[in-house]
Amino acid sequence: MARRDPHSYNDDLQPETESLTWKARVDFQTQRLHAEATLLLKEASAGPLDLDTRDLEILSVVDAQGRPLGYHLSPPEPILGSRLRVELPSGMRELTIRYRTSPRASALQWLTPAQTAGGQHPYLFSQCQAIHARSVVPLQDTPRVRLRFRAELTVPKELKAVMAAGFVSREEQGEEAVERFEMPQAIPPYLLAFAVGRLASRDLGPRSRVWAEPEVLEEAAAEFEDVDAMLRAAEALFGPYDWERFDLLTMPPSFPYGGMENPRLTFLTPTLLAGDKSQVSVVAHELAHSWTGNLVTNASAEHFWLNEGFTVFAERRILEALHGPEVATLHAALGRRALEDAMEHLREHPQLTMLRTRLAGVDPDEAFSQIPYEKGYLLLCALEKTVGRERFDDFLRRYLESHRFQALTTEQFIDFAEKELPGVLEKANADAYLYRPGIPESAPVPRSERLERLEAMKDQVPTEEEVKDWTPAEWQLYIEWLPARPERALLQRLDERFHLTKSQNAEILVSWLAVALRGGWEPALERVESFLGEVGRMKYLKPLYGALAADTEGKVLARGLFQRYAERYHPIARAAVESILNR
Ligand code: BES
Ligand code: ZN
Repeated sequence: MARRDPHSYNDDLQPETESLTWKARVDFQTQRLHAEATLLLKEASAGPLDLDTRDLEILSVVDAQGRPLGYHLSPPEPILGSRLRVELPSGMRELTIRYRTSPRASALQWLTPAQTAGGQHPYLFSQCQAIHARSVVPLQDTPRVRLRFRAELTVPKELKAVMAAGFVSREEQGEEAVERFEMPQAIPPYLLAFAVGRLASRDLGPRSRVWAEPEVLEEAAAEFEDVDAMLRAAEALFGPYDWERFDLLTMPPSFPYGGMENPRLTFLTPTLLAGDKSQVSVVAHELAHSWTGNLVTNASAEHFWLNEGFTVFAERRILEALHGPEVATLHAALGRRALEDAMEHLREHPQLTMLRTRLAGVDPDEAFSQIPYEKGYLLLCALEKTVGRERFDDFLRRYLESHRFQALTTEQFIDFAEKELPGVLEKANADAYLYRPGIPESAPVPRSERLERLEAMKDQVPTEEEVKDWTPAEWQLYIEWLPARPERALLQRLDERFHLTKSQNAEILVSWLAVALRGGWEPALERVESFLGEVGRMKYLKPLYGALAADTEGKVLARGLFQRYAERYHPIARAAVESILNR
């Protein structure tokens, strides 16, 4: 047996899945999917077939003729879940598993009407990356095994289902509607995604529309109106867009991430709706994944930097193309700050600060940090600097072109870089990024005129005049550059002059609230308490619960807030906050 992905029971001596036919009835009453998954294997074969599952209730496993097949569901392991072993008699190519999901399925969040913008209808959405697809469908839950799929979702008639796939049809039958989808391109299982709710859409361009609850649709359409220009800028950099459509879904506020690159339908947090397009870098990021991640895919969570480091690099190239180098450099400086912060948080886990990680026995959600994003970005900047932009762009295109629809390891990346640009890895000191902890001394540092002007304001309280042309990125950087625990008087002066506790921009607000908590600026506390009940994005929950829980008194308060709000958070976010509070 050969298990090459530490987070999957998949045995690569066994046959691979070619495609999935998935039928699920969405039952809001019991918070379960009543489902049927038909797996078509790449070739007919015999012997054991190991699938990943988590909290699934398996009802039956049958062959194409409906004859029952022998199977065994092992007791769950904490990270991997339960192995479902099906015994294939010889010549078997197709099997169907009837099952139902658990109300606590780790990928799914079931929202009550009160948790939606409209307040009238329930809502359901999935978040499968890294290893939560197995809580929705029994399958080989490793990005090494790509699959095509057809899906059929049965939902209450007053709701709409959307999927990261091509839409086929909707048919109403009595009180229910059956929505059909098809995904002709092979995807890694972590990109399976759907949502069900009161959803409406607006076209943004020939290849894009935005979905949202009607209450936020206009706002979302205005914020994301430039998506078509972004798509064209990205194509000019990375080659033709391969996924036909690039639609956006504005999620309810409990969505645990900023964005998720589900193919054809990127999921976005509503905290991006700042009213000034200041957070469209997240859209650029998810769009960039259409190449780096969705086409060329990390072989496992141990190579996650291949997804995120490349995507941050690509995101900043898109920003540069659309808004100029100054804007891209401000984002690089924010990234650098986030990286330093992550290094500090992980000082007791130096292995997690290397790009190439070893994660046997480690939950990928626990290992998640800004390291693969920002240290990965720096490695690619270092490579670019070594060979020059023109040669690096060329390299990037060849890298994408020659690994389309494939999973890749760090080692395969190294071989490719060595072959295409001999000597570049050594010159750029790549080993220090890949295999050693910390930030390499030689790592490129972002520089620009605007950055210099901002640096001159460090440790000072600027005047109204001095901040009049600051963009939200500059505000955030200014705040991030404050001392870790500023004097209360400094915080007071800043808040009185600039009303930061009232900021409508979630990025600025959270940076501010975190530093204000650390510096003991009590007026921020009330806003922290309300904000933690409004938003479930982990990027915001983690620093705020973290800053609260820094002392014993704060920890009591944090625990109380979590008790009050836990139900509003997605299971993944809930687990993340729990782990902070139990530290
Ligand atoms: N794919 C990630 C989100 C993710 C990572 C989900 C790991 C589950 C496991 C997505 O592309 C992402 O990186 N989102 C960022 C936004 C970004 C601009 C860096 C986020 O959510 O903050
Ligand atoms: Zn990403």
